[in-house]
Amino acid sequence: MTAQSFDRSIKIAPSILAADFADFGREIQAVEAHGADWIHVDVMDGHFVPNLTFGPAMCKAIRPHIKTVMDVHLMIAPVDPYIDAFADAGADILSAHVEAGPHIHRTLQAIRGAGMKAGVALNPGTPAESVEYLLDMVDLICVMTVNPGFGGQKFIHSQIDKVKELRAMIGDRPIHIEIDGGIDPTTAPLMTAAGADALVAGSAVFKGGSVINPVPYGENIRAIRAAAEAAR
Ligand code: DX5
Ligand code: ZN
Repeated sequence: MTAQSFDRSIKIAPSILAADFADFGREIQAVEAHGADWIHVDVMDGHFVPNLTFGPAMCKAIRPHIKTVMDVHLMIAPVDPYIDAFADAGADILSAHVEAGPHIHRTLQAIRGAGMKAGVALNPGTPAESVEYLLDMVDLICVMTVNPGFGGQKFIHSQIDKVKELRAMIGDRPIHIEIDGGIDPTTAPLMTAAGADALVAGSAVFKGGSVINPVPYGENIRAIRAAAEAAR
């Protein structure tokens, strides 16, 4: 992808961590019908983070329901033994944490080698410089604005400066800056003003709605998008 054609528009990526776990297919269809740009899929192993969700088999099962982009966020360690399974599951973007092991460079090579876009995620305590020598091998940098593991946590404001630093480091490289954790219409504009273009939101998208009554999903997505776009 050339820098000219790179899509820096605001993307809203609902996290299915906040959806009905017994009904992922219809939840995905509902948020996509109501404005979602990507679907964010949180994979947790109970080891890298203190929570468990699901693995590649579940990702493969929900893949046919996703018409947009399957954005898979791995909160697992190790990562490398599972990369081919997530490629086979149909992930478009596969993000691994820089803290997940000593060889993130090799991991990112393997993700691209398996035909996916490569993302690198940073915990709140990890500095922007940790990805400085990875910029030519990533398609996305995910800045965690909560400590990973759970939805519904409070946004960590210190990450605004990290996003500004990353935005400057990236220059005109075709790299998305994604924000994950505590995003709502109040916090989204802080991050798009700082340089982010992709916003993950779990609780703030799914609150008040259901597959039976998905209209609030659309209202929630529009409210986040409007606030995010106004701040650019
Ligand atoms: C946290 C996950 C997030 C989470 C965001 O570990 O990576 O994607 O679902 O949830 P909210 O938007 O509720 O903070
Ligand atoms: Zn996530």
